[in-house]
Amino acid sequence: SDRYLVIGNPVHQSKSPFIHAEFAQMCGQDIVYDRYLVEADQFDHTVIELFSQDLKGANITVPFKENAYRLADEHSVRAATAGAANTLKKLSNGKLYADNTDGAGLVRDLTANHQISLTGKRILMLGAGGAVRGVLHPVLQQNPEQIVISNRTVEKATLLAKLFSEYGSIEGSPYEALSGHFDLIINGTSASLHDQVPPVPESLIHGDIVCYDMMYGSGDTRFNAWAKSLGAAKCIDGLGMLVEQAAESFQVWREVTVTDTSSVIDKLRASL
Ligand code: ATR
Repeated sequence: SDRYLVIGNPVHQSKSPFIHAEFAQMCGQDIVYDRYLVEADQFDHTVIELFSQDLKGANITVPFKENAYRLADEHSVRAATAGAANTLKKLSNGKLYADNTDGAGLVRDLTANHQISLTGKRILMLGAGGAVRGVLHPVLQQNPEQIVISNRTVEKATLLAKLFSEYGSIEGSPYEALSGHFDLIINGTSASLHDQVPPVPESLIHGDIVCYDMMYGSGDTRFNAWAKSLGAAKCIDGLGMLVEQAAESFQVWREVTVTDTSSVIDKLRASL
């Protein structure tokens, strides 16, 4: 069987081994997929060593996505725009290929699992760190009317908007200056980890807005609970994105499409 890993620090909490085992079984693919903990200063040589052995591919998680991108010989456009890779693949010529499936996972969860089109929509993106940068290109490819990025440190939002302006209408804004009608808010901040909600003006939440939190947990995330209490129509957490980015990685490695992601999402949901 072919060998795959999720590499990160920490990595014990990763649900990727479970998800890929489910996909492999569904698709009749003979693979083994394990967790691999690596120390911060050991990433490059460890990954080079693993791929020089029998490793066929890896998912890369916190805090190594930028390292993984730099280490690879070839890159997809979505990895290049993200400046980060969550997926590495050993090509048949031995070269290392970097991809980033996070944005595609988010778009697939919204459009396929929740029937929410992004085309022509006005989207508010919260946060300007790696999580947001990682998804902007695939989201812009859906041709939204506009993306507004808001961040506590507004310079980071403005910089990201500038960086992605060639792909669509996108601008940065401080939280307190946000106004107008948004169809969708995507929370890509790590505020939930600190049990906080980004300072979005309450007036932006209305009866048919969709809120998406890239984080997930056993109940509503702090952000989704906040939006629901203000009457948001629909609040979605990031569990579906997690499974869909995995399905995209599986496709990159195995050239096989996972058709039934929903059963895996359901199983994971039941285990939270
Ligand atoms: P990641 O790779 O998960 O995006 P990151 O690069 O550290 O991690 O970015 C974290 C993001 O969450 C940033 O946009 C951060 O805002 P700042 O750039 O101003 O620091 C945002 N963030 C973290 N805690 C937050 C909080 N309590 N309220 C609002 N935004 C927060």
